[in-house]
Amino acid sequence: MKHSFDEVINRLGTHCTQWDYIEDRFGEKDLLPFSISDTDFLCPPEILEALRKRIEHGIFGYTRWNHQEFKDAIQQWYQKRFSTLVNEDWILYSPTVIYTISKLIEHITEEGDHVVVQTPAYDAFFKLVEDNKRVFSGNKLLYENNTYSIDFQDLEKKLAHPHAKVFLLCSPHNPTGRVWTKKELKKMIALCKKHQVYVISDEIHMDIVRKPNVHIPIVEVAEDLDHVCICTSASKTFNTPGLGGSYAIIPNQELKESFLVTLKNKDGLSSTSTLGAIGLMTAYLKGGQWVDDLNVYIENNMELVKGFLNKHIPSAHLEIPESTYLAWIDVSNLPYTDEQLQNALIHHGKVAIMPGEMYGKDGKGFLRMNVGCPSSKIIDGLQRFKSAIDYLENKYK
Ligand SMILES: Cc1ncc(COP(=O)(O)O)c(C=O)c1O
Repeated sequence: MKHSFDEVINRLGTHCTQWDYIEDRFGEKDLLPFSISDTDFLCPPEILEALRKRIEHGIFGYTRWNHQEFKDAIQQWYQKRFSTLVNEDWILYSPTVIYTISKLIEHITEEGDHVVVQTPAYDAFFKLVEDNKRVFSGNKLLYENNTYSIDFQDLEKKLAHPHAKVFLLCSPHNPTGRVWTKKELKKMIALCKKHQVYVISDEIHMDIVRKPNVHIPIVEVAEDLDHVCICTSASKTFNTPGLGGSYAIIPNQELKESFLVTLKNKDGLSSTSTLGAIGLMTAYLKGGQWVDDLNVYIENNMELVKGFLNKHIPSAHLEIPESTYLAWIDVSNLPYTDEQLQNALIHHGKVAIMPGEMYGKDGKGFLRMNVGCPSSKIIDGLQRFKSAIDYLENKYK
């Protein structure tokens, strides 16, 4: 492995959402955070070098994204990592993935229309659907033998509703980590096509995937490209959300053009962050090896969590997810309520691990632990987890 991810870097005092503002989510300061999904890793050295060079230039005027270099970098990444050909006309910039999804939903649907989403679901999906006054139509994933699968019968029922207009797919899936297979993707797309439902595929977790699973971009499997699009970003993988910027792949040119009118004319957001664009282009042209190494490191962290739980908290179970740096831990066999467990983690373990209910009621009985950090932090966090359980055992024995 060329890159090491062991270095511990103090992020406190950088207005860092995960560390400096942990109290906002967990009601207490000074907790060791495994919460929102950014990582504690330095960017690849190639990105740091490119940013330094750009900063030394010293002028940070309005910056275009709509040029060949931006699109080439994305095309090359898709070609190299997923063997997918992306037409340059499909590529467009957007400030964030959630902004893109929100605006596309506004374009495609009317107030009161249904947006179908598999649950448990990334928490922002609930908010963006409901605050756009659309109806969140949940398609609960089936959970059997520690594995998630799609309830296609229920999915078809939800898609067949006369007001269902969008299927908001999370591929790979946050929080369960499922990497959808070609067969599953084809079946989902076929059902959407049958019921004339447009597919928005949020693929922000596409690069963190454990072998032998392979992420397949939705444009690779869809036969009718007018009914699908991808919303994604390099920010999750390379830990650059603070630089700003994401992108979308929208083959339907009419939809793409109307999105651009909103971005540019209505919302005045078309000029990109200079550093964000440099980050993306450098990441995609030079960051391949770093991502390969990162995947190995994350897998080791997952093994670490699994091994620790098996040994010290055997009623909790981690099935190593197929993708993401988010360990989705089944705590449903612990003899405590989610509230008792959270209280013990926060007040006794001094550790912040997301309660599964954050991802809707179908996340009950789970914890989501972000393992995108040096292994030493994972060990510290697991020991805190254990001390919270020891406290509960004593209290309720
Ligand atoms: C599935 C998913 N989509 C989108 C985002 C956020 O992306 P952005 O900050 O670009 O809106 C996240 C971050 O955790 C995510 O997990």
